[in-house]
Amino acid sequence: MGALDGKVAIVTGSGGGIGRCHALALAKEGAKVVVNDLGGDRSGDGGGAMMADKVVQEIKDAGGDAAPNYDAVGSFENGEKIVASAFDAFGRLDILVNNAGILRDKTISKMEPAMWDTVIEVHLRGTFACLQAAFRRMREQGTGGSIINTSSTSGLIGNFGQGNYGAAKAGVYGLTRVASMEFQKFNVRVNAITPVALTRMTDDLPAFQGGALDDLSPAHISPIVVYLASDDAKDITGKCFDVGGQHLGMFEVKRSTGADKPGTEPWTLAEIKEDIGKIMAWD
Ligand SMILES: NC(=O)c1ccc[n+]([C@@H]2O[C@H](COP(=O)([O-])OP(=O)(O)OC[C@H]3O[C@@H](n4cnc5c(N)ncnc54)[C@H](O)[C@@H]3O)[C@@H](O)[C@H]2O)c1
Repeated sequence: MGALDGKVAIVTGSGGGIGRCHALALAKEGAKVVVNDLGGDRSGDGGGAMMADKVVQEIKDAGGDAAPNYDAVGSFENGEKIVASAFDAFGRLDILVNNAGILRDKTISKMEPAMWDTVIEVHLRGTFACLQAAFRRMREQGTGGSIINTSSTSGLIGNFGQGNYGAAKAGVYGLTRVASMEFQKFNVRVNAITPVALTRMTDDLPAFQGGALDDLSPAHISPIVVYLASDDAKDITGKCFDVGGQHLGMFEVKRSTGADKPGTEPWTLAEIKEDIGKIMAWD
């Protein structure tokens, strides 16, 4: 008996890297999986059926059930098509993992408009479009669901040279929070992860060089996704899990206690100067 027997999942961008590991892990627990991938290179250029087909075959060879989908995540139209493919293949949808992603790194002063637009389109609009289409179908289906979005420390902490990517990933975090509130009464849970793994996306980044890293294989990311997809996580929504190697933890945006000026007048510059230590303190 698997933890996901009878459930149907979509994993976007699951022809390689972390997404492939999610698809294999979800299938191992009994889910039927739509393996979505446009089959392009790291920057999103090119395309083909081979990447998705290969993972579908891997799942079938291991005794699971899967179907491919080759639509590029990014447009609202394709969001509908990707979600519809789960109904075409398996007749329902219980789990959506928004994982597809690309990089077009440049410092902000050198970033061209197309680099901004494409990264925002794939990560932020793509996540929104799939999430919206999935939620509408899950609500209609009436049996709840689990959506897991992929954010990044680049968005929540920051990373040099990733203004487009960081902005998109911070947006994915905000979207996760809002969607978790809006979907709660329909029993559709929405959580996020910030993965750290050695894939073609990261293998040449400075932070991933040198031998001091633990095992950062993408397979380490998937167990928490399987858990969040399962009924064991039925009370968990709106959360963001930090995962990489042997580590599992949380990210949360918090408001500090701050300082309150008595009365109704705005703060003066002199008062801010005087109290800046208190205003910026965390405890
Ligand atoms: N690897 C890390 O350390 C790390 C860190 C933070 C966040 N992430 C995020 O994790 C996710 C997976 O990244 P990865 O490291 O496995 O990278 P990867 O390049 O190995 O995998 C990304 C996959 O998405 C597919 N893809 C790209 N654009 C697509 C589109 N428009 N439609 C459908 N498929 C598309 C690619 O073909 C590829 O198979 C991404 O969202 C990435 O931003 C990764």
